[in-house]
Amino acid sequence: MVMSKKVMINSKGLRGNINVPGDKSVSHRSIMFGAIAEGLTVIHNFLRADDCLSTMACFKKMGVNIQDDGDKVVVHGKGWNGLVEPETILDVGNSGTTARLMSGILAGRPFHSVIVGDESIAKRPMKRVTAPLALFGAAIDGRNHGEYTPLSIRGRKLSSIEYKLPVASAQVKSALILAALQAEGESVITEKVPTRNHTETMIRKFGGDISSRNGEIRVAGGQRFSGKEIKIPGDISSAAFFLAAGALVPESKLVLPGIGLNPTRTGIIKVLEEMGASISVEWDDNDEFEPTGTITVESSRLKGIEISGDLIPALIDEIPVIALLASQAEGRTVIKDAEELKVKETNRIDAIVSQLRILGADIESTDDGMVINGPAALHGGTVDSLGDHRIGMTLAVAALLSKQEVLLKNAGAVNISYPSFYSDLHSLSLG
Ligand code: S3P
Repeated sequence: MVMSKKVMINSKGLRGNINVPGDKSVSHRSIMFGAIAEGLTVIHNFLRADDCLSTMACFKKMGVNIQDDGDKVVVHGKGWNGLVEPETILDVGNSGTTARLMSGILAGRPFHSVIVGDESIAKRPMKRVTAPLALFGAAIDGRNHGEYTPLSIRGRKLSSIEYKLPVASAQVKSALILAALQAEGESVITEKVPTRNHTETMIRKFGGDISSRNGEIRVAGGQRFSGKEIKIPGDISSAAFFLAAGALVPESKLVLPGIGLNPTRTGIIKVLEEMGASISVEWDDNDEFEPTGTITVESSRLKGIEISGDLIPALIDEIPVIALLASQAEGRTVIKDAEELKVKETNRIDAIVSQLRILGADIESTDDGMVINGPAALHGGTVDSLGDHRIGMTLAVAALLSKQEVLLKNAGAVNISYPSFYSDLHSLSLG
């Protein structure tokens, strides 16, 4: 699919309100917990994008009745034992979250299952999940000694473990928590750097128990959950593209209501503030399990900064668009400690460096991140999402800044997390 630069910006820049779709991480988990809970789970603002639809399809294959009336999604959970052996493979498509979290559930179910995905999934490391799941007692294997999909899982009775996470990954942490919930005894999972805690907030929402103190997470086995009514917050990772567009396009002002503001996800706000962006946050006064609020951003003069350490997991998915912001900021931006980017939907260090360079950005890769010097005027050219949704959306925002035409190949990749992205972007230019 080829997309030309479609958005003509009027003289007042980008203006208006955008309701970004539901959070991807929380949507996946709402289906999973709805499926293992007992009773009805009613999900509002579920993200109907390819990744979350893959999760939905997998749980349907395991016998879970899930209905979508276009407004809300209803999961008819029958508890852990309601999951049955799937007759065919479980296809996760492009979704690493589905592959890894579902492995944690399947590790303790008394049946056999096979997880497969697309070409990108086939390259993503799975040993980080299969090795600790084997410690719980699961019989789990995969291509290249458990490193890659297809994964074959024969669930077993699990016993609790104590485990220190070697990588800062919420997907790995969550897979282990999901196995621990089924194990005999209490498991202790330790993370050096805090990562997104949506699995933990969801367990509490569904009436379960989990404690987390100084990176030490304690989970008792044998927990059961009851179905709940869930409102998914707007996805801050999707909002990030509009925060960048609003900050970068002259004479813009964008208002983004209902955005999830879980502190494990708000690194992008900190970065924008530190770069000098005109951004404000108004918290909603509600008692939702995930906090939300309205973010307002206006065109701003930005300056380069250093981004590293514990902040990285709180903005890991936003680094492509942060690279674009940095290309327009005065001075040097250094992004460090972000080697995890190499094992995302694409190698995101290579992907963003190569594509932004085509448009004229001054950006170089390093072993664990990138260095960007700005500001550099962006020009037209032919770029490629390389099949990665977040690379595609970053390049579409970059196209707004170029006077010449930008052709974006594989533009349809945005369907992974944000199917209405181009129409939402287009609507602003008319605002
Ligand atoms: C996610 C965790 C992160 C993130 C991904 C979603 C999750 O991945 O990049 O988009 O929902 O738990 P890692 O756990 O691999 O860092």
